Amino acid sequence: MDRRRFLNRAAVGALGGCFAGRSLAADGSSVPSLRELAAGRPLIGVAVPTRFESKFSAEEMTILKSQFDSVTPENCMKWDQMCPREGECRWEDGDRLVDFAIENRQKVVGHTLVFNRDSEVPEWLFLDGGKEADAKLVWERIEERAAGLMGRYKGRIDSWDVLNEFVEEKEPGYRVTKLTKALGRELPARLFKLAAGIDPKAKLTYNDYGIENPDRRKVIFEFIRSLKDEGCKVDVVGSQSHLEVADDVAGQIAATIEEFAGIGVKCAFTELDVDVVSRKLYWNQQTREEAMKQDPYKDGCPDEVLEEQAGRYRAVFQAVMADRDHVDRVTFWGLTDGHSWLNNWPWERVNHGLLFDRAAKPKPAFRAVAEVLRKA
Ligand code: GLA
Repeated sequence: MDRRRFLNRAAVGALGGCFAGRSLAADGSSVPSLRELAAGRPLIGVAVPTRFESKFSAEEMTILKSQFDSVTPENCMKWDQMCPREGECRWEDGDRLVDFAIENRQKVVGHTLVFNRDSEVPEWLFLDGGKEADAKLVWERIEERAAGLMGRYKGRIDSWDVLNEFVEEKEPGYRVTKLTKALGRELPARLFKLAAGIDPKAKLTYNDYGIENPDRRKVIFEFIRSLKDEGCKVDVVGSQSHLEVADDVAGQIAATIEEFAGIGVKCAFTELDVDVVSRKLYWNQQTREEAMKQDPYKDGCPDEVLEEQAGRYRAVFQAVMADRDHVDRVTFWGLTDGHSWLNNWPWERVNHGLLFDRAAKPKPAFRAVAEVLRKA
């Protein structure tokens, strides 16, 4: 797009296009661009829903283009969503996202080649006519998916979440699913070797939750180290980072970055959000019902809670920027509060977990992050 068209288009949005590190808001005030402030160290990313172009307002599209270096599809590349029936894959949504990103000089995160959770892989993967598919057939289908998906976007997707949520702290050390019942603990090494063979230049990531937690980190660290010992190329460990306002994890994040750097693996914070309605009660059967009645901020989030949230984001980014060369990327799991999965998971409530509110206005959390980036 030429410069004049670019500026004209920007002018119609509430936030203007990014220009020399700043965007113009509708009221004429300037809003800095996070991607320009971070200058790629680390990359700043965002996850987008399937067919985001028809869901986002003009303001949201402007933010998407001006604030972020990289885009992650929330769902449309997941196996069950992409190929609900054998031999029938829907490529359009992924194709559109990749084209959009390239047109806007953004990178794409391939999320995710294999997700080790039964609800995220298609049923047909484990069926062979009327009987159960054997390990050989399951693996052949994985090979076919990897060749089809990674092959299609080779050179256009520079970073792949090769495997999502494999590790468990308890025995046998991984989540027991149909996938691991078929392929066992060999699955990750085979997968990473397969991925590296198909696209040797792509960054390969292992993605999981709770990596900053010291007990869990220990297990994941050993897991990654053993993959590397086996000759696998693992470039990045992705920590999902679905946080809550009260999670004081900056110190743990710093330790995580340092620890993985020691074995030549960068960290990415791949799904960052900061929930303002604690989920803790939900995870206890006894208090779940009580938790599910909570919807305290349905009419808006009080300023003091937004400030507290800003403090949490600030601390996370301070930890990241203190060791920025060992951090590949920070991705927010959603663009604006209205599009966040936190409104529905794990129960329905009006949530406020991201940097931009429902009107696509920057929140105190945005300002806090921008300030840390600017000072770094
Ligand atoms: C996990 C997965 C993501 C997504 C989020 C919730 O963290 O990695 O793909 O499903 O949960 O939206």
